[in-house]
Parts: sequence; structure tokens; C-alpha cells
Amino acid sequence: MMNPRLDRRGFLVLGGLSLAAAACGGDAKPGAPAPVPVAPTDPAVAAAEAGRLAPGRKPVAVRLKAAPVTLDLAGREVQTWAYGDGAGTTEIRAKKGDLLEATLVNDLPAESTIHWHGITIRNDMDGVSPVTQAPVMPGDSFTYRFALEHPGTYWYHPHIGLQADRGLYGPLIIEDPDDATGAETEFVIVLDDWLDGLGTTPDEVLTALNPALSGHAGHAMTPDATMTPGHVMTPAPPSSAATALVSGAHGNSTPLGGMGGHIAYPLHLVNGRPPADRPTFTARAGAKIRLRIINAAAETPYRFAVGGHKLTVTHADGFPVEPVEADALVLGMGERYDVLLTPKSGAWPIMAAAEGKAGYAAAILRSSSSASAPSVGSRPTELDGRLLSYADLVPEGSARLADRAPARDYRVELIGGTDRYVWGLAGADAAALRAVEGERIRITMRNSTPMWHPMHLHGHTFAIPGGARKDTVNILPGQDLAIEFDADNPGPWMFHCHNAYHFEAGMTANLTYVRA
Ligand code: C2O
Ligand code: CU
Repeated sequence: MMNPRLDRRGFLVLGGLSLAAAACGGDAKPGAPAPVPVAPTDPAVAAAEAGRLAPGRKPVAVRLKAAPVTLDLAGREVQTWAYGDGAGTTEIRAKKGDLLEATLVNDLPAESTIHWHGITIRNDMDGVSPVTQAPVMPGDSFTYRFALEHPGTYWYHPHIGLQADRGLYGPLIIEDPDDATGAETEFVIVLDDWLDGLGTTPDEVLTALNPALSGHAGHAMTPDATMTPGHVMTPAPPSSAATALVSGAHGNSTPLGGMGGHIAYPLHLVNGRPPADRPTFTARAGAKIRLRIINAAAETPYRFAVGGHKLTVTHADGFPVEPVEADALVLGMGERYDVLLTPKSGAWPIMAAAEGKAGYAAAILRSSSSASAPSVGSRPTELDGRLLSYADLVPEGSARLADRAPARDYRVELIGGTDRYVWGLAGADAAALRAVEGERIRITMRNSTPMWHPMHLHGHTFAIPGGARKDTVNILPGQDLAIEFDADNPGPWMFHCHNAYHFEAGMTANLTYVRA
């Protein structure tokens, strides 16, 4: 018997190859030939890439060494895995039209990959093992080479097991040569929930949530173990620390329609630092500054605000929106917002409160060297002010999808979470999401579960109702929500919940391009 993780990965591999079987319950006419999937190696993948590069640029080369490290989180030493010497601190910065050459050097005791979240990337560089590439084995390296078509705020993380709930993630900023925000300075704010090395690990916590999900790839297994078909991993029972993190009462979030999550993370970080060691961002009073806010957490939504200031939202998931004011923003896992603000003289609290959970991440915005720092934990009243909602997001002209009737109109149901910690995407369409290059696709999701989910599609930026473009969208309990996109990036792509633990528990599907 293979363990559930390998079963699911096996299914995902086969997903691209078993369309004939899937077609029986799908849209194919009886007796019609099975549609032929477009593989990551298909010439159509390279063809889609061709128009994305600006001519005459030097490639931007970066090296990302994934390795075990010891981090000091305000005096608490944790053993974890990271790129470089901090959690989420290795920023990649390039320009629209650049070719990125990012080499992953895998010094972990486990296979790994890097996924480039939100990028309209060539499929064979999407970093999803085994859908788009073989995993990078311990001691090996792999160079991701791809053009950066759209400017904006993106991020990267492994796409294996719960590795991204360790220190393996970082910001990817693509500058816009035609930037119109007028910002004088910018700061990248990466938010993360942290438990690794604090008496437990993400894998133990998954076991505590549901013992049947444990023992999958991504933990510190030998390469042999991961490669032996049918190898049965015997999971260690969860530690009492892991059990304690999942046994508390579930909090409640009004904007998310119920509980925020299941895991009571001991720490929340801004740029790898907990509140006891909050970072300070220094800017000139009266200057226009831009914050690029990224929720890189595995299981925690955040409510973000800056004391004494309103935020002007200019971009959602990298794409421009008509500037709109709010006091606070809720970011689901995987979501990003760019905001502008003009600091008043002083030292102001920046807080990302875990939404529907206890705890917060914090930083300081300082525009006067003499002002005393806000006390740790001082909660900006703006957090309880006017929240940005999706209805406020109006796409800027260039980001608007042309009106078009969808060629395929899918329905997918989000299920699970009522008695056991198992989550999924159900309905006949969920197993047979297909696109022919050039088509307009609509996927309507129905959330039949008792909690919210940040749903993410790889390789595309879809329109949400109202037209704003995003790659990750929060869907509330009981809600129906439709996304639309043009199928302009061939290859097999994942469509999944960006709650890392829901993903591990099965909330994932594949979008497969097929030949016309
Ligand atoms: Cu952040 Cu499947 O991705
Ligand atoms: Cu979910």
C-alpha cells in the first residue's frame, strides 16, 4: 500500500495521462478520440514563452541554497530549513521582461523544488513535482530559467509537502519600468506563521490534525525511502507540542465567515522576525512610500494596518487596480497587496494580526529619529476600521479581461472538514478541468465546507467578479465564486487551496491543456 501522499501524487501524474478514462464522465462524445494533453515538454510551452522576453537584457542570475539552518528568533534558537540565513529573507528582484536564472541547490535531506507563485511562467519551470518536473534530489541542483512577463509582487516556495511552512520562501519583486505610483521608497513586508523548531515540526502538526495524512515526502526521509514504490513510512506519533497547537478552540473571523484556521502558531513574523525583534522601516515624513505585502504563511490569514495612516491599495496579486483607500486589509495565504501611504512624522506601529486566531506579526514605520517606538503589541485602531473588500477592487484598464463568453464553464465543489481533517475538490468537473489554448475558461466554485479557502491557480491570473485580476482568491463558507481566465499558457497546472495543510489533505486539482 502506498501512503496517501504518494497515492495523490501518483494520481496527479496520471491526471495528465488518463484523460480517456476521465472523459467517460466528462464532456467527450461517446466514441470520440480521447483528447491529447499538452505536456510540459510540448513545443507549445516554449512558444508561449517566446513573446515574454524583452530583447537585449542580461539574465538575472541568482543562487538559492536550500539547507538546514539554525535561526535566532528573538533569542529562541530554532532548527529549520531555509534559503540563506533567514526565513523568507532572500529577496529576488528583477525587471519586467528579464530572464530569471535561479539555481536551486538542494542541501536538504529531502527532495525539493521551487514554485514561482503567481508568475505567468513557462510550464516546465513551474516547480511542481511530479506534474511539471522531477523533484530535485538531495545534493542536486536545478536551474529555473524563465521570462518575467508581468511586473508586480510575487513570491516563491517549494511545492513539496509542508516545506514552505519552514523557512523556505521568499519575495520575488518584478519592477515595472513604467511604474506610475510615484513612490519614492518601497518596503517589502513578508508575513509568516511560525512553528518549526519550537518543540515540533509542520509534519508532526499534520499528523496531529489527521494521523492518516502523515509520513509523506518532504520530511527528513532518505532519498531511498522516497523513491521506493510502496514503501510504508511509519510516522512518529505527534509530539505533545504538536497536539497542543491543534487542540485549542477555533477563533472566529467576521470577514472570513468563521474560523481562521486550526493551528495556533506560537509566532508570527515580518521578514523573518517575531514581534520581540520587530523590524523598523525608515522613511522620510511626507514621502510617498509603497509597501509590498505578501502573506507567505501556511495556515494563517492576516489583517494588516499601519497605525495613524490610511492605505491606498494600488495592486492586488501583482496586477494594478484603480487606487482605493482602506484602513486595513485581510490577506489570505498566497495573496499580495501593494499599498501607498505618506508617513506622518513619528514612529508608527505596523501590525498584521492573525485573523480569527490569536497572535500577530509586527514592525515599525519610523519617519522621525526622536519619536519613541510604539509599545510592542500596540494595536492600531485602523485594524478595526474600514476593511478592503474584493468589491472595492476595480481593475486598471490594462488589467481588465475583454468581455467574452466562456468556451468551458466548470463547477467545482469545495468539500470536507466537518468530521475529519480531510479536504477536497469534488464534482465531475474537478477531475476533468481542461482547456484548449485560446479559450476563455470559467470555473465556478461552491464552498460547501464550514471554513474559508484561499484558492490558487498556477500559470494564470484570473478575473474575479468585478473584474480585478488575481491568482489567489478567498472563498467563504457557503459562497459561490466564479473565476475567469484566458487559456494562454499551455501545460498542466495545479488548482488548489493555499492552506498548506488543506492542500496536503487533498484540496487540489489539475487544469490540463488539451489539443484542439
Ligand atoms: Cu503558492 Cu501551488 O502555490
Ligand atoms: Cu482550504
